[in-house]
Amino acid sequence: MIGRLNHVAIAVPDLVAASATYHETLGAEVSMPVDLPEHGVTTVFVNLPNTKIELLAVLGEQSPIASFLQRNPGGGVHHVCYEVEDLAAARARMQAQGARVLGDGEPRIGAHGKPVLFLHPKDFCGTLVELEQV
Ligand code: CO
Repeated sequence: MIGRLNHVAIAVPDLVAASATYHETLGAEVSMPVDLPEHGVTTVFVNLPNTKIELLAVLGEQSPIASFLQRNPGGGVHHVCYEVEDLAAARARMQAQGARVLGDGEPRIGAHGKPVLFLHPKDFCGTLVELEQV
């Protein structure tokens, strides 16, 4: 059911330093920082030939990554995002399999303007999973 890996999101305490690591040390193409106030993050997009890395930093008081960074002060992999063709069908399958969809279970518009759902990390090998309808 899941398709391409859309992105890997890495939460970082210092976006400038993380961006430099990807640009200078790893030689990747990185975007300028983009504030996404409705998502509580500032993002730098790292464009790779086959996928993207999203470097996420806290923006504002209600950031969804604040508690993660408290537990992981040096940063770390926050979630992986897989593409699906039909989010409603994906949700039905997840729930039928006993997997937990986070929040109220309704898709939200994600950082790329497309509907997304998040799945409980305890049901997916300890990793927060985002499903994005493409
Ligand atoms: Co994401």
